[in-house]
Amino acid sequence: MEKKEALYEGKAKIIYATDKADELLVYYKDDATAGNGAKKGTIADKGIMNNKMTAFFFELLEKQGIKTHYVSMPSEREMLVKKLDMIPLEVVMRNVAAGSLAERLGLEEGTVLSKPIVELYYKSDKLGDPMLNHYHIQAVGLATPEEVAKVEELGLKVNSILKDFLKEKKVDLIDFKLEFGRYNGEVVLGDEISPDNCRFWDSDTHEKLDKDRFRRDLGNVEGAYKEMLRRLTGEER
Ligand code: C5P
Repeated sequence: MEKKEALYEGKAKIIYATDKADELLVYYKDDATAGNGAKKGTIADKGIMNNKMTAFFFELLEKQGIKTHYVSMPSEREMLVKKLDMIPLEVVMRNVAAGSLAERLGLEEGTVLSKPIVELYYKSDKLGDPMLNHYHIQAVGLATPEEVAKVEELGLKVNSILKDFLKEKKVDLIDFKLEFGRYNGEVVLGDEISPDNCRFWDSDTHEKLDKDRFRRDLGNVEGAYKEMLRRLTGEER
């Protein structure tokens, strides 16, 4: 595989073209942002840890029949992925009230939901990722009804697989965000799964093991990412 020109630089990743037309190289940076870029910083070795955790989760999901963009991990900070035609939606799955849901519905953080919630947001930095429903998505033409149904079905499946797996690692899966894309007529899971886009709480102490430590200035941010990597793969870094 040959790395070619950078196509896009996001808040936490750089996407490069490769010599294969249908494959991209994702480079994971240590940069961290919160509040749609309002707060900026770096988390030491985050890029390495998030790449490894994402690869781990995608391999786990593939084994359970979920199609992902993951191809291989050529280096500690790089992931080779299939080139998807991204659906401009952020699919948030929730098991426990936290963050914006706790605020919006006036629920105490940590309130266990009686069933998982699926939320859809329009992926747009400019607009601050507004929440959408099926009517908006179809009226504006962001995705077909079939794609939305598939994205929700896959979101619920991924949630169930990850929740059960993490329970064994003494981690509660509070909520997380997924992104999907089209590939050869199918809806495939893309982006990443890491403490940057999931809320992970220690099952016993409810200690936060995710980016909320950075967002809320709770300290020991690197330690939380390291602890998640250790629980998943046994690796220290
Ligand atoms: O902020 P909120 O409570 O809506 O976030 C829900 C979940 O989605 C959290 O796990 C958060 O990390 C993730 N998220 C994300 N990217 C966004 C918005 C939310 O990864 N733009």
